[in-house]
Amino acid sequence: MSEVNERDIKKLPTLRGKTVVNLFFEDSTRTRISFELAAKRLSADVINFAAKGSSISKGETLKDTAQTLEAMGADAIVLRHPSSGSAHRLAHSGWVESSVINAGDGLHEHPTQALLDAMTIRQAIVSSPIGSDLSGKKVLIVGDVAHSRVARSNLILLKELGASVAICGPATLIPSSLASNGGVYYSLDKAIDEFQPDAVMMLRIQTERMEASFFPTEREYSRLWGMNSQRLSRLSAPSVLLHPGPMNRGMEIDAASADSSKARILDQVENGVAVRMAVLFQLLSSDVKEAS
Ligand code: CP
Repeated sequence: MSEVNERDIKKLPTLRGKTVVNLFFEDSTRTRISFELAAKRLSADVINFAAKGSSISKGETLKDTAQTLEAMGADAIVLRHPSSGSAHRLAHSGWVESSVINAGDGLHEHPTQALLDAMTIRQAIVSSPIGSDLSGKKVLIVGDVAHSRVARSNLILLKELGASVAICGPATLIPSSLASNGGVYYSLDKAIDEFQPDAVMMLRIQTERMEASFFPTEREYSRLWGMNSQRLSRLSAPSVLLHPGPMNRGMEIDAASADSSKARILDQVENGVAVRMAVLFQLLSSDVKEAS
């Protein structure tokens, strides 16, 4: 799919006649637009549904909304929802027959983000990215792990691919279930010096999900756990810096780091389109369905 995205005409006829619904109950820039672009590049019809301005405001449930969209011909529903487990519920409840793709459910998971992150890391630090794994590579995930569905999906996928994964952040933002495992650092300086990561993934501080104060001030957070030029210079030469976006510039990552040659943040965005094309292709292409 990456190769398709480099062509002059970035289009395949594969999903002609299929309809993909982007059902987003939370704000999104990257995920929603890349799913839309991915579906269009595969020639599917796309409906973008935002909860704001819909009959959700009149009390319509997820079940009724999804069934309404399916009655209009949806073949796949891409769901972003604030409740953990919502995508699993929609996929396995029997409410709809459409394919359901999790575009982020509460604090739980964001699987296509992990896929595009793994792809970006492989492109950057493994010499032959296609078909190769991440054995022996070290990935450090830094920041608000407690509220991060990106971290949870990456922990599963990167370990599956053979990477060694460590997490780092203030104790208040490291879930107790992970704190008891090895590979947890409470100092970013120590994590960089001891773990010597090949890739560092900075997480967004998710103030919208915080019901308490998890660190004294933004300035202190930035000083202790933020990526800056001084820390960036201590990473090994080939190592790379990732951020799922949207970034809080000046908090978890400073502008110089975000715009540095080590940053692969726009590669992540670019790979997001290819990964989501691949996911839609796997789920909706009659070629794949007949083969399986
Ligand atoms: N990374 C990510 O999910 O970004 P959006 O919220 O903009 O989709």
